[in-house]
Amino acid sequence: LLSPAPSKCSLEMLIHHYGDVYEHSPWVAEAAWQQGLTEAHDNPDALAELMGLMLQQASSDQQIKVIQAHPDLAGKAAMAGELTQDSTSEQAGAGLDQCSPEEFARFETLNAAYKEKFGFPFVIAVKGLDRHAILAAFEERLNNDAATERQTAIEQIIRIAHIRLIDRATKS
Ligand code: GUN
Repeated sequence: LLSPAPSKCSLEMLIHHYGDVYEHSPWVAEAAWQQGLTEAHDNPDALAELMGLMLQQASSDQQIKVIQAHPDLAGKAAMAGELTQDSTSEQAGAGLDQCSPEEFARFETLNAAYKEKFGFPFVIAVKGLDRHAILAAFEERLNNDAATERQTAIEQIIRIAHIRLIDRATKS
């Protein structure tokens, strides 16, 4: 279960404790709170589902802003230690901090090509993936059209938020 219990939180508390589940986008937690949280939302799966619905229902402009709030994978900000705690551990968990110089260069090229084509960074839920799988998905997704890729990125971000909530729940 999540602690503090979302259903017992004021709006301010919810944002304080869960606002960062969506990278630099606390409005997603606020929108979920406005729906009226009940004890059914005190588990990570249910809160993640409601928050995900809020993001799916947002305008494409709002969705793109959330995608744009994500740092590049294996990018300069990551190397400079400038990411949020969650992003840092996710990227390190996938071994992205251990890329060879050639792999870093590959990410740099792909990050630039992807942003040039879509206007937002490549986002993927990296849990369970190694850098080879991430690079393969990266090359594959570069072929998508913009609408498909926006929807794919939003689905991945919802998955990232779900994983973050599960990680914050006290195992019981
Ligand atoms: N997937 C999981 N964490 C991250 C992140 O920090 N940046 C991007 N682009 N994708 C991610």
